[in-house]
Amino acid sequence: MIFYFSGTGNSKWVAMKVAEVINDKSYDITLIKDAPDVNNEKRIGFVFPVHAWGVPEPMRIFAKKLQRIKAFAFGICTYGADAGHTMKKFSSFYRLDSAYGIEMPNNYIIGEDLEEEDVVTHKLENAADEILKISQEIINEKKVYRVNEGKFAKFKSGIINFGFNKFARSTAKFNVDECKCTGCGLCAEKCPSLSIIMSDGKPIWKGNCYQCMRCINICPQVAIQYGSDTVGRRRYTINKYLK
Ligand SMILES: Cc1cc2nc3c(=O)[nH]c(=O)nc-3n(C[C@H](O)[C@H](O)[C@H](O)COP(=O)(O)O)c2cc1C
Ligand code: SF4
Ligand code: SF4
Repeated sequence: MIFYFSGTGNSKWVAMKVAEVINDKSYDITLIKDAPDVNNEKRIGFVFPVHAWGVPEPMRIFAKKLQRIKAFAFGICTYGADAGHTMKKFSSFYRLDSAYGIEMPNNYIIGEDLEEEDVVTHKLENAADEILKISQEIINEKKVYRVNEGKFAKFKSGIINFGFNKFARSTAKFNVDECKCTGCGLCAEKCPSLSIIMSDGKPIWKGNCYQCMRCINICPQVAIQYGSDTVGRRRYTINKYLK
């Protein structure tokens, strides 16, 4: 059983590809109501994006609640550049036999513009090869730690991650261009934390936003901004690149 969390599709794609190769099933944790029965599983996998060198809150909560069994456990994080101690932290609340990181297009358009097209496609091609390699290692239950932690890993996964979760996940800067927004409701329907409500045909943000970047990236009208940081920046979802 593979459990995944994904904002813009990178981690979902990885989870589904790995599941296909190792002949397993993948599940979106945000759609699971009760903790699943994993007693008969021979392996458990977790796939999720790195958020500020840490594990996104929904995955952290899910893994902490999941029943502990003796099955082979693996985790795969996806990131734009590096993970810090994300997987070591994850393993401290759900013990992993293997941990991997896969470099993927960076969806954090609040921080910087989307990478150039050739970088995005190159990353996706490399990731496809890495997925095959990882899948074989999982089948063989090989114990592996292959994660690009980057520089200052302890600092970034410590104080910076703490600051991100405490201060940077505010919805206050989300705004919508009322002329562009058609009121289709897609952003609200797809928000995994149910932080968007539609009011008079326009979205309003409130609640425990994960900063997964789904709403801002999927709006078909590019009507959503985060302050003025995202104005003029391109939008990303993996679906635009999948054949
Ligand atoms: C809030 C946020 C924080 C991020 N922090 C990091 C980071 O610390 N290091 C990194 O390399 N990439 C970081 N990224 C990029 C994502 O980890 C990367 O694009 C990931 O593959 C997105 O996966 P998803 O499409 O499954 O959500 C961040 C993205 C978001 C939205
Ligand atoms: S997805 Fe875009 S167009 Fe649709 S309601 Fe949300 S902001 Fe408006
Ligand atoms: S409000 Fe947007 S960024 Fe926040 S959790 Fe929902 S979809 Fe993700």
